[in-house]
Amino acid sequence: MKDNGQNIKIKEENIRLLIREAMHAREMAYAPYSGYLVGAAVFVPSGRIYTGCNVENASYGLSICAERNAIHKAVSEGQRHIDAIAITGAPIGKEPSEADTMAYPCGACRQVIAEFPPGEGETLVIVAKSEEDYEVYTISELLPKTFHV
Ligand code: THU
Repeated sequence: MKDNGQNIKIKEENIRLLIREAMHAREMAYAPYSGYLVGAAVFVPSGRIYTGCNVENASYGLSICAERNAIHKAVSEGQRHIDAIAITGAPIGKEPSEADTMAYPCGACRQVIAEFPPGEGETLVIVAKSEEDYEVYTISELLPKTFHV
C-alpha cells in the first residue's frame, strides 16, 4: 500500500496495473507534429480502467492531451469520479524509462483531473517512467487553490 500522507491508499499492484495500461495507450498516440507520445489510464471507483493517448492535428491548437482523452472517455460513459490517473510519456524512439523527465500533466489537464474527485479523499496522480520508477501525488499538490464554481 502507498500512503501519500493524507490517508489515501492505493495498492502497489494497482499502481503497476494502471502504469501498464498507460504504457499500452501510449503506443496509440498520434503525435506527428511534436513527436512526443503520451499515454494515460484512469481508475474509477468500480475498478474499471479507461485509457487515452494524445491526438494531434495539423491545426496544432486542436491537439488533445492523453489525460483529457482518457478522462473524457470515462465521463462520456457515465463515470464522475476518478480515484487515480497514471501518465507516461517520451519522445518517439525513446521508451519512457529512457526519458529525461517524468511526463507531468499540463495545467489544463490538472484542472480537468480536479473536476472529478473520488467520493472520498483526492485523486492520485501517478507519473511513471516504468512500473518500478514512478511518483505519486495528490491532485491538490499539483494544482493548489483549484478553481471551482
Ligand atoms: N501532452 C499530453 O498528452 N499531456 C500533457 O499533460 C502534456 C502534453 C501532449 C500534447 C502534445 O501532443 C504533446 O504532448 C507535446 O506537447
